[in-house]
Amino acid sequence: MLESSPTTWCSDWEAICRPDAPLREHTWYRLGGPARWLLAPRDEHELAAILARCRESEIPVRILGHGANLLVRDEGVNGAVIVLRGPAFEYAEFSADRIVAAAGADFPLLVKRACSRGLSGLELLAGIPGSLGGIIRMNAGGRHGEIAAAVDRVRFIDREGVFRESAAREIGFRYRHTNLDGCVIVGATLRAGRGAPEELLTRFREIWSEKYATQPAVSERSAGCIFKNPPGHSAGALVDRAGLKGRRAGAAEISRKHANFIVAHDGAQAADVVKLIELAQEEVWRQFSIRLETEVEIW
Ligand code: EPU
Repeated sequence: MLESSPTTWCSDWEAICRPDAPLREHTWYRLGGPARWLLAPRDEHELAAILARCRESEIPVRILGHGANLLVRDEGVNGAVIVLRGPAFEYAEFSADRIVAAAGADFPLLVKRACSRGLSGLELLAGIPGSLGGIIRMNAGGRHGEIAAAVDRVRFIDREGVFRESAAREIGFRYRHTNLDGCVIVGATLRAGRGAPEELLTRFREIWSEKYATQPAVSERSAGCIFKNPPGHSAGALVDRAGLKGRRAGAAEISRKHANFIVAHDGAQAADVVKLIELAQEEVWRQFSIRLETEVEIW
């Protein structure tokens, strides 16, 4: 168990392991406590070795993407948090109708580069922050589509530590869901159509503007939409109708612009955000008998 595990379990990886590492700087929210260990493997084999050791030592593992859809609690994470950074985890290769990229690749940058090269499809996902791995794992998307539509194959390490590659149909893509929980995505192949770069970039900008006309600015600290849309409903509209826009807990606030966002002002704690999540769930249940499920990942 964790409490009795020797702190030397990661002594092979001293160069890439930071004990008690703050996580807030890795999240868009800039909230939350430290990770007991933060590890940055240099390649996929080192990643697999770390995962195997954690499994043997019964150390809980979390994979940190770009922290765009993540709320870390103030207590932090009593386990190992792994970041996928550096060349082995951030490459992206573009061909005439495919993009082969690593899980740590920055998704917005990938979208921009695809548009500039005349590769179409991803422009529909303009304005969605995150790492490619994170985007795939939660099947991120918006009004114009989901990443599932572009995924051809996904490479991942499964729950037993085995490297695998699956076709998109085996991933179980649904609304904000895949069956990759407990697996670690290392890379993916995306399919693309062809288009004129100027047109794709124009469409990209239109979708981006549309999104930010109705959502808090990127400069505001949030984690995107807090709740999944319940079937047949909009979570934002429900929280709004419940009268909760502008409601505060400490220095966190349910956005006045879009009620499915909770923004953190200076001095906010993760616990403030959690209180507002619970308040919104309670009120929407009390007033409309609808359960709101979080979309944001809470550690
Ligand atoms: N609405 C309100 N009040 C609000 C917010 C929304 O009445 O405070 C109404 C809107 O007027 C609209 C309806 O609710 O009639 C739906 O709102 P919107 O068009 O903003 O879309 P959404 O369903 O709230 C989804 C995704 C967003 C994505 C947008 C745009 C989910 C949970 N959310 O939002 O994704 O950006 O569409 O494509 O699926 C995210 O996943 O983090 C995210 C922000």
